[in-house]
Amino acid sequence: MSWNTVTLDISDGVARLTVDRPDALNAMNPETLEELEAAIREAERESARVLVLTGAGDDAFIAGADIDYMREFSTPEALAYAERGQNIVRNLQEFPGVTIAAINGYAFGGGCEFSLACDLRVASERAIIGQTEIDLGIIPGWGGTQLLQRLVSDEVARRLVFFGERLDATDAHEHGLVGEVVAHDELYDHVDEMAAELASKPRHALYAAKEALNAFHETGGEGGLTVERRAWSGLFGTPDQREGMAAFVEKREPDFE
Ligand code: COA
Repeated sequence: MSWNTVTLDISDGVARLTVDRPDALNAMNPETLEELEAAIREAERESARVLVLTGAGDDAFIAGADIDYMREFSTPEALAYAERGQNIVRNLQEFPGVTIAAINGYAFGGGCEFSLACDLRVASERAIIGQTEIDLGIIPGWGGTQLLQRLVSDEVARRLVFFGERLDATDAHEHGLVGEVVAHDELYDHVDEMAAELASKPRHALYAAKEALNAFHETGGEGGLTVERRAWSGLFGTPDQREGMAAFVEKREPDFE
């Protein structure tokens, strides 16, 4: 499916969601946010098991929120825009499948934040990543101050936000901001392989795992253990659990739903 600034392709359980404003390095205006929300809903309706988020063109993943659009914001307007961006962060975090950011170039500000909201991040060797807002006189407003802390040390989070540092892919990987770095030309093949493997895993178990892993950050260790316990026990009796364990005992490959 295609909107004005976003495209969505779904095949074999994998949704590829592309922000498509290459002339503005995929910077996001209100139309983009609205279309991203609609596309994530559509991927969910189509029961995609994996969602890959990326940017159109060869230069940028997403160069942030559209600065030209925001420059004259009043505080109430800024608050409303923060809520819209944070809603998408939530949509990605709660997406009932695995989300992967395929970071093909610049990922700044809101672009960095949307990558942080995904479950996994794969960067092209050309990626440059940062929370650059400080140099615009603002701070991250779409979850960055919270999401960074999940992946990098508090020291690194503060350095990124205070200095607005733009990390190349190698440094981003070294700090834990991305899971791996691959050759630019191999990014999509690599991500497609990951997505296909994830799409073949038992769906309910994958989502339960995501919920339990998310809960650590939302509720802290103890609350997370409660969520994990419930999610774990709730999987017993599902067809995939029965099949997975039967296959192991019978020494054969499982045939998941
Ligand atoms: N908002 C609006 N437009 C943006 C944008 C953003 N966040 N990022 C890039 N663009 C636009 C530029 O205005 C330019 O448009 P134009 O051709 O109509 O003038 C076009 O994208 C290309 O950008 P340009 O700056 O000319 O390319 P570059 O290769 O010299 O630099 C960047 C690329 C990404 C380093 C630079 O554009 C940049 O620093 N962007 C801002 C990133 C940022 O701080 N994002 C956080 C926002 S909260």
